[in-house]
Amino acid sequence: MQERKVLKAGLVGSGFSARFHYEALERVYGLDCKVAGVYSPTAENCRRFASERGLEAFDGLDALIEATDVVHICTPPSTHEPVACEALAADRSVIIEKPFTGYFGEGSDSGDFDGRSFDRERGLYGALASIQRIREAERRSRGTVMYAENWVYAPAIQKEREILEKTGAQILWIHGEEAHSGSHSPYYGIWKYSGGGALMGKGVHPLTAALYLKQVEGRARDGVPIRPASVSCRTHFVTGSENYRDAGHLRTGYQDIEDFAGIHVTFEDGMCADVFASELVLGGVHNWLEVCANNHRTLCNINPNTAMQTYNPEESQFNDIYVVEKTGTKQGWAFTSPDEDWFTGYQHEMQAFYQDIASGREPESGSLLGGDTIATVYAGYLSAARGGQEVTVPRVE
Ligand SMILES: NC(=O)c1ccc[n+]([C@@H]2O[C@H](COP(=O)([O-])OP(=O)(O)OC[C@H]3O[C@@H](n4cnc5c(N)ncnc54)[C@H](O)[C@@H]3O)[C@@H](O)[C@H]2O)c1
Repeated sequence: MQERKVLKAGLVGSGFSARFHYEALERVYGLDCKVAGVYSPTAENCRRFASERGLEAFDGLDALIEATDVVHICTPPSTHEPVACEALAADRSVIIEKPFTGYFGEGSDSGDFDGRSFDRERGLYGALASIQRIREAERRSRGTVMYAENWVYAPAIQKEREILEKTGAQILWIHGEEAHSGSHSPYYGIWKYSGGGALMGKGVHPLTAALYLKQVEGRARDGVPIRPASVSCRTHFVTGSENYRDAGHLRTGYQDIEDFAGIHVTFEDGMCADVFASELVLGGVHNWLEVCANNHRTLCNINPNTAMQTYNPEESQFNDIYVVEKTGTKQGWAFTSPDEDWFTGYQHEMQAFYQDIASGREPESGSLLGGDTIATVYAGYLSAARGGQEVTVPRVE
């Protein structure tokens, strides 16, 4: 009997997303895979991350690529393209965290680049060029690009996929949101690392899910995905406004990004989607997507949802109890999540990616979906700079 190959995973980055990639990998079943090690330039964090989990801490990206089959890119968005292209050139598969890629200014460190004032048309074509470079590297590689947009794999979105496929539904309008009280990463808030603000950091989640479901609809009915055609968008820097009154509950101090965005997408078939993203919402994360179709309506409550609710009369009783992401208080009623990563789709995403790699199947969330998302976002930024005027989404090939 032929022995099954063990797929070796390597984590690039040792921060927040590297942690949940590791935990999701621990839950992959029915396949032979293991985490071989981790690399990040923050050597101390990297060693700690590795030793807490019994992993090897690699001292360079080359060494990690050499020792692994699948490279997980859990690093700031500005680094996604170079890391992905290096791994693909070595015929490795890559799992790229959201957002897929973007525009981060010109040059290696982009000097005094200011995210508030650069030419948005240049940004759109810069982001598009980055998408094409990753897709070209993928075409030349034996590896595959997987775009780690967990919303695609969240059980609620996958159930909606089943409904679309089995009923031949037409989606008329999708609306959705990702919002909370502010992102933790020190790189977030600085455009040259993050490639944008709320739209890029948060909006991509519901936006990708919306683009994905229109792809599913088109494939199911006509064998061809329905793709985004144009956008109108508005962005605001609310916490940076001189009129903002800081009551101390929201993160502030973003350098040069927007903290609110609303984007209206029109698809090739004339149907539409509206996505909101912000850093302005108290009470925990607010992540939902509603699908209004010609034959049904679905509300996907990613987080919070009512799988469990708890009432706690005294804050301190729950000191050691995780309740729900970014909740400001554990006192009173809460949408306590019994298994948040499950509803969020992290383990389903990892299971699907490793099954794809093992079987040679194309991922549901690959470089085309990642590319379409970023082309839509940057067409949105151009629209916002023009006061919300409609802008065509350039076609990713
Ligand atoms: N899917 C989700 O729900 C979700 C949640 C949070 C973050 N993310 C995404 O994950 C990515 C990383 O975010 P994070 O929150 O983990 O950030 P983080 O700041 O917690 O960690 C970033 C890590 O990248 C490392 N790093 C920085 N530059 C590097 C380089 N050039 N090469 C290799 N490593 C480098 C840092 O040392 C650090 O270990 C971002 O793209 C972010 O949008 C996704």
